[in-house]
Amino acid sequence: MAMSNEQSILHIEDVYKSYGDKLILDNIDLSVNKGEFCTLVGPSGCGKSTLLRLILGQEKADHGALTINGHAAGYPDTERGIVFQRYSLYPHLTVLENVLLGKHLSKRRWYLPWVASQASKDEAMHYLDVLRLSAAANKYPHELSGGMQQRVAIAQALIMKPPVLLMDEPFGALDPDTREELQLFLLELWDKEKLTIFFVTHDLEEACFLGSRMLVLSQYYADDRGEVARGAKIVSDYALPSVALSTEIKTSSVFQELIGSVRQQGFDPSVLQHVRDFNLEHPDSFQTLLDQERSG
Ligand SMILES: Nc1ncnc2c1ncn2[C@@H]1O[C@H](COP(=O)(O)OP(=O)(O)OP(=O)(O)O)[C@@H](O)[C@H]1O
Ligand SMILES: [Mg+2]
Repeated sequence: MAMSNEQSILHIEDVYKSYGDKLILDNIDLSVNKGEFCTLVGPSGCGKSTLLRLILGQEKADHGALTINGHAAGYPDTERGIVFQRYSLYPHLTVLENVLLGKHLSKRRWYLPWVASQASKDEAMHYLDVLRLSAAANKYPHELSGGMQQRVAIAQALIMKPPVLLMDEPFGALDPDTREELQLFLLELWDKEKLTIFFVTHDLEEACFLGSRMLVLSQYYADDRGEVARGAKIVSDYALPSVALSTEIKTSSVFQELIGSVRQQGFDPSVLQHVRDFNLEHPDSFQTLLDQERSG
């Protein structure tokens, strides 16, 4: 068993998850350190969002342990902000009210943002300021561009002060220019606010560009278990070079080669790496193999 060290903010071990008789996640092991910008890619339907829901405590694993800051997922102390692709803003509330609501979204009681205390409003304005949205505080979501709406969604999540900011394809609905602009913006925010981020995307270029660490989740691999139903595993775990605050790197050959090898290792059903040969190069990576996987 891998011990979680003091830096480890998210620890997942031996996690299995199925829906009905379909195994989705198949023995997931993952330890993420504070301050990491962790990106997760994988073929559509492999279980990326399912893993996020387990971390969020919205769903229970069939087996295994998930802890955040040492507490079981779903424990009140582990309140996390999450940013989805879209639809997290209430259309009839202003930007400020939407952010205020974020502060209370995780609490199971009625909350009316228009009777918020001055202290709460000041706090919400602080986050709007950080997200460069102060001027839009009294606007309604439909008056904002898609990129601005996603920044409001990020403010809504950050005000919960989550130990790990979870993001599920947050830029998936944006046009390419806005997407790139928000990628750079998020990198700056991560650096400045010392965030720990867990970011799901199926855009390989985005994952390589943003991450300080990149995980590949995939159902395409081989082991010695014989004829059993398999779910997805983490098949690659890369430590990426420290973050460049320019998009120029995207056109470099090293970058393009990395994308090519990730595409092959995780997305090509005809390339089946053996569990013992997974590319788990990140220093925090660990793998709990079953006996029949270890032999051979
Ligand atoms: N509540 C549910 N009940 C039954 N099956 C589900 C449920 N949620 C997800 N699944 C199934 O689990 C698998 C993984 O779904 P998930 O949404 O986690 O994939 P994903 O990797 O996020 O895909 P995408 O890249 O398309 O967002 C899929 O086959 C999906 O159909
Ligand atoms: Mg998904």
